[in-house]
This record gives sequence, structure tokens and C-alpha cells, in this order.
Amino acid sequence: MEQNNEQQPADATLRDLPDAEYEQIRAMIYDLCRLSFDKDKKPLVQYRLGKRLRDLGFSSYRQYLKFVKEQDGGEELTILINALTTNLTYFFREPDHYDFLTETVFKPYAAGPRDARLRLWSAGCASGEEAYTVAMIMNETIPDLERRDALILATDVSTRVLDIARRGDYPLERFKDTPAELRDKYFEPADQGGRACFRALPALTRLVRFRHLNLMDKWPMRNPLDVILCRNVMIYFDKATQQELVNRFYDALKPDGFLIVGHSETLTGVKHRFEHFRKTIHKKSE
Ligand SMILES: C[S@@+](CC[C@H](N)C(=O)[O-])C[C@H]1O[C@@H](n2cnc3c(N)ncnc32)[C@H](O)[C@@H]1O
Repeated sequence: MEQNNEQQPADATLRDLPDAEYEQIRAMIYDLCRLSFDKDKKPLVQYRLGKRLRDLGFSSYRQYLKFVKEQDGGEELTILINALTTNLTYFFREPDHYDFLTETVFKPYAAGPRDARLRLWSAGCASGEEAYTVAMIMNETIPDLERRDALILATDVSTRVLDIARRGDYPLERFKDTPAELRDKYFEPADQGGRACFRALPALTRLVRFRHLNLMDKWPMRNPLDVILCRNVMIYFDKATQQELVNRFYDALKPDGFLIVGHSETLTGVKHRFEHFRKTIHKKSE
């Protein structure tokens, strides 16, 4: 899994996570989202859920799990998923993918017929930086974008990060790999509860539709897609789940469409129909 900077709090041991309860949480999160937590991730899970137990006033995981299971409507399950997903992301992460989109997708689209549709999907978008980066380069590459039918669908299973994405407020550190002129062109300085941030402008927000979606559920798209970005998501799934997902992505794409995965991901060991286009970029050739 990706690095995170979470430290175990000093009082974490007050709510010790017994192995039996850890197994129940692992099974629950696997059944829901197919996220695979190894045995060695117990301290991480304990840290992330410890905060929640403290907020709810529970003194044991047994009490907490009883509460999760008995609660109508599944609200606590949503909070559990929000707590256990890893949502690390930033603008212009893995920038060669954006160069690829500029040259291979957006320039040919800009040169093609005005009425053509263009649909991209940021699957596992976290707090939206990936989708907004795509929106920036679309704006930069397609001169008459406002008069075209080009959109980005961005989905995630975590409602917490989707709220951030919809608000469009980001702290300065998320822009560490973003050219300053693009940041200043597409974001305005704003105040988020007393903290300085940059707020996405309509030139970006009008291009992106954020939706809650568990990739394991039925997908809402009715028309085939041009590009799917599913970067740094499948690393959290086992091979069988990756295989299932990659085949569903294939079926959701147009002929000649592309699937882009993260730099640390590979389709090696996964049976699929894609043509290898270049490292981490796969083409649907029919
Ligand atoms: C590390 S982030 C990747 C963000 C972005 N794609 C990037 O590369 O910067 C992984 C995201 O996948 C989401 N995710 C994990 N399991 C999921 C599932 N079953 N359905 C939808 N999203 C999921 C997590 O909530 C998290 O926001």
C-alpha cells in the first residue's frame, strides 16, 4: 500500500483491536469494497478506527461492531469505508499520463468534428485532483472546448473525499507538481474555515461530474467511454478482483479507447483483452 504519515496515537492501546474483531472488519471491508487488508495492517486499522470509537464513546471494538451491524441504513458502514480507504492524491501526479492524453486523445479530438462526444472516467478519483488536472489540460489543449460535448466523470466509494472534490478547495501543498501559471489560471485564492486555500474555478468544475460509486457495484454509464483512468486504486485489490475489474473496464470503453493505471501497477498476471500501448497505458483494439 502507499505510504501514509499516520502515527499511532499514544492512547490507541486503550481500545485494543483483538484479532477476532480485526478479522470481522477485514471480512466486512472485503465484502463491501474488495479492499484487502493484510494481517500487518492491523495497527493502521486500529489507528484509523480508534478515532471513531473515541468520538462515539465506545470502549471496545466488540461494542462498535455490534453498533455497525445493528444500525439501520448503513450510515456507519459509510463512515467505516471513509475511514479505511487510502485517498492520497495530488494535481499532476504521474505527469506523463497527462502528456499522453494531450498528444493522443485531446489534440486529435480538437482537430476532429465539432459535434463528437468525449468522455473520460476518473475511477477512484479521491478528492478530485486527478479529474481537475484532466480538466486543466483539456482547457489548455482544446480551443473551442466550451462549445463541445466533452466531460469527465469522477467517482469514488468514499463520501468524505467526494465532499472535498465537490467543494473544490485545496491547500497549497496539493499543487507541488502544478505549474504556478496553471494553478493561478484555474483556481482562485479562498478561505476555508480560516485556512488559505485555492478554489477551483468554473472553467474546471463545469467539466467534471462527481458521483458516489463502489466499483464493485453496477455502473451507471450508458454510453461507451474514451478513456478510463483507474490509477493507484487496483493496488488495494487482489488479483481476482483486478481481473474482474479490468474486464469490466474493457467492456465499458469504445473501440480504440484507453485504460490508464498507476505507475506502480501492472496487468501482469491478469487475463485481459487489452493491447499493451505503453507502460501503464492499455488500448482496446478491436
Ligand atoms: C490512492 S487513491 C487514488 C486517487 C487518484 N486516482 C490518484 O491516482 O491520485 C485510491 C482511491 O480509490 C478509492 N477506492 C478504493 N476502493 C474502491 C472501490 N471499491 N470503489 C470505488 N473507489 C474505491 C479510495 O476511496 C481512494 O479514494
